[in-house]
Amino acid sequence: MVRFRPGAAAVLVASGIALARPGAAAPAGPVQPVPFSHRVHATDAAIGCTSCHVYAERGPVAGVPSMARCQGCHKFVKEDPEHPQLDAQLKPFVKLLRDGKPIEWVRVTRLPDHVYFTHERHVRAGVRCQECHGEVEKMEAVRQVAPLTMGWCLECHHRKQREKPGERRKLTECVTCHK
Ligand code: HEC
Ligand code: HEC
Ligand code: HEC
Ligand code: HEC
Ligand code: HEC
Repeated sequence: MVRFRPGAAAVLVASGIALARPGAAAPAGPVQPVPFSHRVHATDAAIGCTSCHVYAERGPVAGVPSMARCQGCHKFVKEDPEHPQLDAQLKPFVKLLRDGKPIEWVRVTRLPDHVYFTHERHVRAGVRCQECHGEVEKMEAVRQVAPLTMGWCLECHHRKQREKPGERRKLTECVTCHK
């Protein structure tokens, strides 16, 4: 058991070590209830990002696919005895499908509640998923890549504003991200 020592947090802060908080870049992603590889799906099986994250082009939240969507392929892709590692990763997932249980995925990327963000505007303006999420198609487990701080948002918003100053006046106003 780790015992809390008063002052330990203050020492960490004073020495410049950031404490874990929402929005802080994580070196590794969280452990998911079943392994899910973006490399296998987005690169090897060449499935487009928005065919699974279907709301990214039309709403604030990108959305994580339902079991029904996974089932569409996994009625057929159930095992792979020639590749033992993939086969081992498929087994726990196929069991969940058989039992009809949904998967409680652990969130990787999350902004504090006081910040307003929407996928739609970014995706429609041609900002690629990778600019904010990194090269997800190469990841075995998704992890947060960008810091997601206010400074990070504003750096890009200032840059985009300079391209179309009149039209994009709102990009740097407080109320755009803090409703
Ligand atoms: C076959 C469906 C599928 C495809 C294709 C897919 N994803 Fe995902 N994605 C998922 C699932 C399931 C999760 C939740 C599990 C996890 O985090 O690994 C997820 C999670 C994520 C997350 C983390 C969400 C969070 O919790 O913050 C990001 C970011 C992401 N995907 C981006 C992408 C990008 C970018 C692409 C295209 C390069 C892509 N995905 C392609 C199914 C898919
Ligand atoms: C378009 C088809 C397709 C869809 C949709 C799809 N998969 Fe897959 N999945 C595959 C293929 C192809 C493989 C690779 C199998 C192999 O080569 O052995 C795979 C492999 C896997 C594996 C083993 C490798 C790994 O990722 O760890 C898991 C687990 C898995 N899929 C889960 C899911 C989940 C969860 C969903 C829904 C979010 C999903 N799949 C949606 C086609 C699909
Ligand atoms: C301008 C930066 C940016 C772009 C571009 C972007 N995202 Fe995100 N994404 C974020 C942020 C920030 C969050 C966390 C949002 C929150 O917590 O409110 C997030 C969250 C997510 C999530 C988890 C929550 C959810 O919305 O379902 C998924 C999945 C995701 N993004 C997928 C994608 C995919 C796929 C694309 C490309 C089609 C994409 N994102 C493009 C910044 C971006
Ligand atoms: C482009 C989006 C964006 C704009 C514009 C923006 N913010 Fe933020 N702001 C964020 C994000 C993201 C966070 C949360 C991450 C962080 O704390 O860096 C945040 C956090 C904050 C916080 C909380 C800091 C903390 O320590 O918790 C305050 C206060 C704040 N913003 C004030 C402002 C003010 C005042 C303006 C206008 C001058 C402004 N913001 C404009 C995105 C934005
Ligand atoms: C890589 C560049 C980039 C990053 C990073 C980025 N944005 Fe944006 N953002 C844009 C562009 C481009 C637009 C759309 C401008 C347009 O539609 O003309 C936009 C639009 C928006 C809008 C809608 C503005 C409006 O006029 O209503 C919001 C809200 C927003 N961003 C919030 C955020 C927040 C919060 C973050 C950080 C978590 C962020 N953005 C990070 C490029 C970016």
